[in-house]
Amino acid sequence: MQDGLFITFEGIDGSGKSTQARLLAETLRAEGHNVIHTREPGGSPGAEEIRALVLEGDPDRWSAETELLLFTAARRDHLERLIEPALAEGKTVICDRFADSTRIYQGSRSGNKRAQVDALHDLMIGREPDLTFIIDMDPNTGHARAKGRGGTEERFEDFGAELQAKMREGFLDLALEFADRCVVVDGARSIDEVAKDVAHIARTRMS
Ligand code: ADP
Ligand code: TYD
Repeated sequence: MQDGLFITFEGIDGSGKSTQARLLAETLRAEGHNVIHTREPGGSPGAEEIRALVLEGDPDRWSAETELLLFTAARRDHLERLIEPALAEGKTVICDRFADSTRIYQGSRSGNKRAQVDALHDLMIGREPDLTFIIDMDPNTGHARAKGRGGTEERFEDFGAELQAKMREGFLDLALEFADRCVVVDGARSIDEVAKDVAHIARTRMS
């Protein structure tokens, strides 16, 4: 089995990404892999501070451009301080959201900003995962799940189910655009069923 793989989980809020990222990390660790489990926005101390800035407070707190810069700044710090050193040491990195989230959320939420997102990504990040799970989920179910979780990080969840539907389509389009690394997994099943699929796909990719 090959280690040193960069695996990401993507999908709309409440699709089960965090649950599945955690379970895959546990499964691979139990099988003897050296795994770093992390998340975005955040994952390093500086990026976690930026996380609070972008996810809490009024939905109009930042302009679309400032928000894109904040997510990218958080990612750059996370990449420099955690992801790249871990991959260089041959560890497998499992990350809950990465640049695909920026392509979808900042790239399409207020007009088409994909060109700006891509330019900034090329300039400041320039790294793609080896394998991306897109957990697909009906937006109403996803929204209800995300809302049921509670907490203060609701700046984005407050945008509602209509936005989630648009984002779902965006993620499915992205899976076609990056077909070499993206796998769409049906998230509307039990946690265990989804986890089984995910682990099988990850093992196949690592072997
Ligand atoms: P995300 O990270 O995509 O927002 P989470 O993994 O945090 O989603 O899951 C959102 C909520 O839904 C949590 O309360 C979690 O326990 C629950 N959940 C996750 N996956 C499933 C599933 N397959 N079936 C039912 N509930 C789920
Ligand atoms: P996350 O904590 O993964 O929320 P959830 O578990 O509800 O899916 O992410 C919080 C929010 O941040 C989510 O609504 C998506 C948004 N986000 C962006 O808009 N751009 C990004 O680059 C990232 C990483 C997240």
